[in-house]
Amino acid sequence: MTIKKRKAYELEIIDLAFGGKGLAKPDGFPVFIDQCVPGDIVFAKITKKKKSWAQGKLINIIKQSPLRQEGKCQYCNFCGGCKWQQLGYDLQLEYKKRHVIESIEHIGRLKDIPVNDVIPSDRIFGYRNKMEFSCSSKRWLLPEELANQDIKKDFGIGLHVPGTFDKVIDIKQCEIMPSLGNEILDDVRKFIVKSGLPAYHLRNHEGFWRFLMLRHSVAFDTWMVNIVTREKNHDVVQELADILAKKYPEIASVMNNITDAKSGVSIGKEEICLYGKDYIKEKLGKFEFKISANSFFQTNTRACEKLYGKVAEFAALKGNEIVVDLYSGTGTIPIWLSGQAKMIYGIEIVKSAVIDAKLNARLNGIENCEFLEGDIKDVLPQLKQKFKKELKQNIDIMIIDPPRVGMHKDVVKQVLSIAPGKIVYVSCNPATLARDLEMLATEYEISQIQPVDMFPHTYHIESVALLHRL
Ligand SMILES: C[S@@+](CC[C@H](N)C(=O)[O-])C[C@H]1O[C@@H](n2cnc3c(N)ncnc32)[C@H](O)[C@@H]1O
Repeated sequence: MTIKKRKAYELEIIDLAFGGKGLAKPDGFPVFIDQCVPGDIVFAKITKKKKSWAQGKLINIIKQSPLRQEGKCQYCNFCGGCKWQQLGYDLQLEYKKRHVIESIEHIGRLKDIPVNDVIPSDRIFGYRNKMEFSCSSKRWLLPEELANQDIKKDFGIGLHVPGTFDKVIDIKQCEIMPSLGNEILDDVRKFIVKSGLPAYHLRNHEGFWRFLMLRHSVAFDTWMVNIVTREKNHDVVQELADILAKKYPEIASVMNNITDAKSGVSIGKEEICLYGKDYIKEKLGKFEFKISANSFFQTNTRACEKLYGKVAEFAALKGNEIVVDLYSGTGTIPIWLSGQAKMIYGIEIVKSAVIDAKLNARLNGIENCEFLEGDIKDVLPQLKQKFKKELKQNIDIMIIDPPRVGMHKDVVKQVLSIAPGKIVYVSCNPATLARDLEMLATEYEISQIQPVDMFPHTYHIESVALLHRL
């Protein structure tokens, strides 16, 4: 069968590809289709055709796979948030483990690396401690809403339809956020509709209401509400903040971030605290953290503890080591390990994250963590020099937790030249993990990889790899 663009075909889904799409292989030619489960027989239209693969859009399911189950969320067939709800959680974990193994073998060209079973998330719904909902002047209608003339199309607050930047599904109930978040979301929606002020137009960049960001502290069961607007209008946002704070005693902070930046970024050029503190507190293990509206914090608090627990287990510190944590964010890993090493240095490029890291270390009475601001490419050589010349000491262990793009190849070279005895590599992207491990494998044995699930119902998987110097 020759696959042609814009034509539709009956296809059998035989596997799930990394990225979450179903995979069909008519006559061996890979076709990737969203919203499919292995075992489905589907009718799909080809939207993209390349030399060695094609992409299709699901038109309808001809025969459902026995693996398919009813998703809990009413939007799960349309929303880009969590696309794997149609698969049982045990199967999700199996596929995630396989994706790690396949990436290591095919991208990293590394054989026989032990990959453990995935550590599951205890909560598979209501687990996300941060959700960001977009406001749009263009609401995307669900199939059952199309015929309803009463539904206004000029406002929606929710999540994007995958592959679109201007179409927003009006989300009434998001299942991966704790339930009170949905009540807050609904009150904000009602207030916006009544306010008479327009939602942001994602194409012409006009309008007032841009995002609603909700953060939940699991340890204290408190919430931060961050209202992101295009311009300042204090009276309006203050009225909203007062209504919310009065109704929900759980709300500890209401912020207003103001930005007219055209990119879809919710970080304000100006930030105003409308109620309570300009942060909420959260706990990881025995440590307390202040999280401000724009701080990075792992989004599944309890799974994060399991992840860091694995990092500590792999690091197996005895108390006298010098540790360097590359890509240290708000300092959570150094703080987590602080009681187990002599000294820990964190390197992080985002200034506000470094400020948060220092504050959080102080908040927890920690004195053996130092945080350095800058690009690792520049800061790591300076740190290396300091150790070699001034301190005449080695860096014993490196923890590396890069963003999705993985490590810069110059940083890999620097790590190899520093040659710590042990590396613990934390990754949120199996593809870049595999690429970087291949480079490190010239001088390190990859002893084991432990996947940890932080994001149920998505194809995303976190992994911790343990490397010993050969
Ligand atoms: C996946 S996060 C890890 C954060 C932290 N380890 C945690 O668990 O919360 C990656 C971090 O790397 C930082 N980063 C990205 N590129 C960097 C670079 N070139 N130099 C230093 N830090 C960088 C990002 O700002 C981000 O905070």
